[in-house]
Amino acid sequence: MRLRSIIACVPLTACLLLLATAAIPAFAAEPAAASAALPTANPFNRLLKPPAKRNLPPAEDGIHDPTNDGTHALQSPAQGFLPLVKSNFGNQVDWVKSLDENRINPRNELADPTAEPFVFDLNIEREVKGSMPDVVYPHKQHTQWLDCANCHPDIFIPQKGANQISMAAILMGKQCGVCHGKVAFPVSECRKCHSKNKPPVAANAKP
Ligand code: HEC
Ligand code: HEC
Ligand code: HEC
Repeated sequence: MRLRSIIACVPLTACLLLLATAAIPAFAAEPAAASAALPTANPFNRLLKPPAKRNLPPAEDGIHDPTNDGTHALQSPAQGFLPLVKSNFGNQVDWVKSLDENRINPRNELADPTAEPFVFDLNIEREVKGSMPDVVYPHKQHTQWLDCANCHPDIFIPQKGANQISMAAILMGKQCGVCHGKVAFPVSECRKCHSKNKPPVAANAKP
């Protein structure tokens, strides 16, 4: 009975819940086996795909039209990404390192192949309440890829502290989540954004 409902369950979250309940007795006895049975898809972001569905060839990616001949002429991402620096998340490419190591040389303007990006080296630190390390937002790595107008003023008012940013909004695909989890590294990589450790609390500080 339980097995049948696992197979029939929709949506995926319901399946995960059922799987989790089904796995509880096994989990106590054999934690390794039980956790291996769980899917590895990042549950934090609804836009992330399980490993077997990443970097599919264009005709199978659900974006390109498989009935169009041009789609089949396109290079598969898995092949195109081979020379780039690998990562363990998102589409398995560390784009920042790939650019730093000159493994990729993106064109900055469609019409002008010699156009240089306007790289702006300014870090914005955002203090985070609670125990999570503070967020460091680096303009440099962003403006190597993006134009100021990609963020200012529609996503962020260009003034430190003028925007109320929250993790809830990011997970809903707003603010940093407009890109992170979709076209940039996923929200599961907490420490890439929460990169500044808080100063240790003084021993005599009141809680
Ligand atoms: C990927 C998004 C993004 C891009 C692209 C971007 N910025 Fe920003 N910018 C931010 C964020 C986030 C903040 C911080 C806002 C806050 O703290 O509320 C910020 C803040 C600023 C500030 C305020 C600094 C201060 O100390 O008050 C300026 C000025 C600014 N950006 C200029 C630029 C310029 C110029 C470019 C292009 C070269 C650019 N930004 C590209 C996201 C971006
Ligand atoms: C307009 C799209 C966009 C927005 C909005 C955006 N990012 Fe990014 N971010 C990128 C891209 C593209 C990269 C480079 C590719 C990558 O690392 O996946 C990047 C890279 C980064 C990096 C560099 C990681 C490294 O390897 O050095 C950090 C840190 C980061 N983003 C944090 C943030 C934070 C925090 C916010 C919100 C305040 C934010 N980003 C908003 C697109 C965006
Ligand atoms: C793309 C960048 C980015 C990533 C990845 C990220 N965060 Fe955040 N997070 C932020 C920003 C920006 C804020 C808002 C900071 C502020 O208050 O200005 C924030 C705020 C928070 C807060 C404070 C409360 C709140 O909800 O705003 C917590 C807790 C938090 N993040 C936890 C996490 C955890 C856990 C992860 C990993 C699962 C994570 N974050 C991944 C950018 C990120």
